[in-house]
Amino acid sequence: MQRILIASRKGGCGKTTLVSNLAACWAQKGKRTVVMDADRQASSFHWCARRPEGVPGVLAIDATRRGALDRIPADAERVLIDTPAGSDADSLAAFLEVADAVLVPVLPSPIDLEATAPFLAELAAVPRIRRGKLPVALVGNRLKPWTRASQDALESLRAMPFPLAAELRDSQAYALLAGLGKGLFDYGSEQVRSHQDDWAPLLRWLKRAAT
Ligand SMILES: Nc1ncnc2c1ncn2[C@@H]1O[C@H](COP(=O)(O)OP(=O)(O)OP(=O)(O)O)[C@@H](O)[C@H]1O
Ligand SMILES: [Mg+2]
Repeated sequence: MQRILIASRKGGCGKTTLVSNLAACWAQKGKRTVVMDADRQASSFHWCARRPEGVPGVLAIDATRRGALDRIPADAERVLIDTPAGSDADSLAAFLEVADAVLVPVLPSPIDLEATAPFLAELAAVPRIRRGKLPVALVGNRLKPWTRASQDALESLRAMPFPLAAELRDSQAYALLAGLGKGLFDYGSEQVRSHQDDWAPLLRWLKRAAT
């Protein structure tokens, strides 16, 4: 079982998008996949419920309730933990204790980079992370590679204390598919396939983190 915590203090940076697309990817590969939603907005929880017939299901657990970690089925292969904006290392402590990897999505803007830096500093001080037992990676999200803002942000992201595991471009496909209870990996059009390629380095990083 691999448990991945997706977190950031910053709102709207793509936590739920990471959770739902990784969940769809692994479910499509036949992995028994669980999403734990610790956010009262319950966006990932509702996304799981919206998954239509014809795509593999993802089990949703309401992780705002006590004892949620005990409700993960023993045979789950991938567990994705979605968390609310405004989280800090203290509020995430129970998840940081059991996670096998942490992903922090970041949008390419000075405001987002500035708001994320103190959260990364908090993570760096968590004993399991400090001792190298819990790998953390950044995910650049909603990039528009042809813009100065994205290029500057990537430079800043590469200088941050954790590796940049993926550079996800901006695409309306994310919002459209989320509304249908789907992710990029449930859908195979030419246009969407090019965005699937953005995820390959992240999937490789997660595979390495699991070994
Ligand atoms: N790569 C992307 N391209 C285009 N739109 C995106 C991308 N990633 C996320 N979005 C959109 O940005 C919005 C915020 O994303 P998301 O809900 O995943 O963020 P979040 O961090 O979970 O937000 P919150 O802090 O409210 O939980 C959503 O409308 C989502 O569809
Ligand atoms: Mg969210």
